[in-house]
Amino acid sequence: MLREKVIDGETLTRVIADLASRVSADLEGKDPVFICVLKGASYFFTHLTLRLAAPVVVDFIQVSSYGASTSSSGTVALVKDLTVDISGKDVYIVEDIVDTGLTLADVIALVWARHPRSVKVVGLLSKPSRRKVDVQVDFIGLEIPDRFVVGFGLDFAERFRNLPEIWEYVPEGEVG
Ligand code: IMP
Ligand code: MG
Repeated sequence: MLREKVIDGETLTRVIADLASRVSADLEGKDPVFICVLKGASYFFTHLTLRLAAPVVVDFIQVSSYGASTSSSGTVALVKDLTVDISGKDVYIVEDIVDTGLTLADVIALVWARHPRSVKVVGLLSKPSRRKVDVQVDFIGLEIPDRFVVGFGLDFAERFRNLPEIWEYVPEGEVG
């Protein structure tokens, strides 16, 4: 069940506008390619890039973990690859949420293997208390406690991505 609204639409708009101005200030002298990590980051990605102060190249990548309980660094599978050549470019990886950090660590490694000039990470949400690896996140929208959230791109079993705000979700068997 959707237990409680955690972040409303107005807050999301404000947080993304703030992120966009911080990231825009970083674009000076760069040759930027913004990479959306599908599917979760897609809603955040369009809102963020629409607010950037300079034109950027955009591309999309999709990875999947080989099962959450056994996930460890090096376990993501590439589902959809980039189509843009990022060698020599300044890459900004855009993620919905950084939880254990394992997915992001693998995506960063995958991106570095294509020889970009630089790699930075923009995350809408972060759950610092859940971190298992010390992964680099250069721009963070909001830090949240260890609760499972859905909406604005985030899913539970592919559901709830199109909710316009972010809610805490509790699976039916665990409601108490
Ligand atoms: P990590 O590898 O543990 O950092 O997990 C990152 C991925 O797990 C994110 O890209 C999300 O797809 C998913 N994830 C982590 N926490 C949540 C959550 O609270 N709601 C929905 N998806 C989540
Ligand atoms: Mg995801």
